[in-house]
Amino acid sequence: MSEQKVVHETETLRIPLQTNVFDKYIASDAIFKSDREMLRPSYIPKVLPHREKEIDQLAAIVSTGLRGDRPSNVLIFGKTGTGKTATVKFIANEASRVSTASTSIDFIYVNCCEVDTNYSVLQHMANKFITNPEERAPYNGWSIERVLSLFKDMVDKQKRLLIVVLDELDRLVYKTGDDLLYSLSRVNDDLSNSKVSIVGIANDLKFTDFLDARVKSRLGEERIVFSPYDAMELTDILRLRADLVFVPGALNDDVIPLCAAIAAQEHGDARRALELLRVAAESAERDGRRSVETGDVMRAKNKIELDTVTETVKTLPSQSKMLLLSMIIYSEKRRIMTTGDIYATYHNLCNSIGAQPLTQRRIGDLISELDMLGIVRARVRSFGRGGRTKEIELAVPLNETRELLVDDELLSSYKNARARFQTTLI
Ligand SMILES: Nc1ncnc2c1ncn2[C@@H]1O[C@H](COP(=O)(O)OP(=O)(O)OP(=O)(O)O)[C@@H](O)[C@H]1O
Ligand SMILES: [Mg+2]
Repeated sequence: MSEQKVVHETETLRIPLQTNVFDKYIASDAIFKSDREMLRPSYIPKVLPHREKEIDQLAAIVSTGLRGDRPSNVLIFGKTGTGKTATVKFIANEASRVSTASTSIDFIYVNCCEVDTNYSVLQHMANKFITNPEERAPYNGWSIERVLSLFKDMVDKQKRLLIVVLDELDRLVYKTGDDLLYSLSRVNDDLSNSKVSIVGIANDLKFTDFLDARVKSRLGEERIVFSPYDAMELTDILRLRADLVFVPGALNDDVIPLCAAIAAQEHGDARRALELLRVAAESAERDGRRSVETGDVMRAKNKIELDTVTETVKTLPSQSKMLLLSMIIYSEKRRIMTTGDIYATYHNLCNSIGAQPLTQRRIGDLISELDMLGIVRARVRSFGRGGRTKEIELAVPLNETRELLVDDELLSSYKNARARFQTTLI
């Protein structure tokens, strides 16, 4: 008996020596033939299918600079993932390739989500021209006028044509108003050698309502609109990228059309299409398979959706978390609810954890915010003379969202309280 046991143990011990737990991960070249980073948004492709018209429009504007004149300022609009950033960066690369000593265009790219105050944008731009760290503008402490004046001095030090790209410009305007744009759009009045043009990129036109009329007209000398991609266009974009990244035959024929169809249904977002493809391929790779199947794409879709919900829910303010948990609790009774239904449950929940409830009107505002974030779907229904009512429905997976919410210390008493919700709160 004991002898048998020894043999058995030696055999089980020998197995790990023949195959290694990392083997299937190391054999990743079964699917990816080159750097998967090429599927990430930071990679700027050498060819941008279906953006020929927009590239041409922008190139025509920028080319004025190569002839020594100031290009018009441009505003670029388009939904997320429509290739705005990629196109502008592509044009900047192309312009640098044809620049000569006498006709060169400098680009400064600022992402206003990352560099998000008027001071920091100017400081970032001024410091681009300064190599000596001691001469640079500090991260804070100077007046805006001082940094602006340093920027102008640096730009004008030698004759140059500068294009300032302000990406995600709508965020900056919503956050800080239009002071920076006002100063920048007048900067040429104070320059004697150089010329500055502005390319602003934003998701929609609405932010221009917040601009002073003069700033609006100076900034929008030219406008280019990027429309969402359709499924065929996304298929072309994905195919081109897939050829660079995947081993031939690693993708089942239906994988790219499926990624394209899902992304086109959402809002024609190439970033989402590429992310689906990458996450699907990584899931097949993790399983040690040699090909990516449509099931991987569906799993990727669920994973990405859940990751997005997780990120949004985790960062909600406490009152919105309490409201959302109340809605989840109420939805066990009825899927479609009104603000009044939710308010009663929310009120009880506040009482049970000793929190001060907000007014029903304020809760109505928070529901609208959750609607904008895509966490709930709200629509107003009219009943003729009977008036109107807002019908609200949750748009997130209930169990997973509940788990996330009760992870918050404030709501942790609801961790295992499913039965209690129903008896005490509804
Ligand atoms: N025509 C295209 N050809 C190839 N890749 C593209 C194309 N359009 C977009 N992409 C890719 O899709 C991703 C998203 O593009 P990009 O970042 O330019 O979108 P965007 O319009 O700036 O979106 P956002 O408004 O969210 O910033 C990037 O990885 C980019 O390389
Ligand atoms: Mg962008």
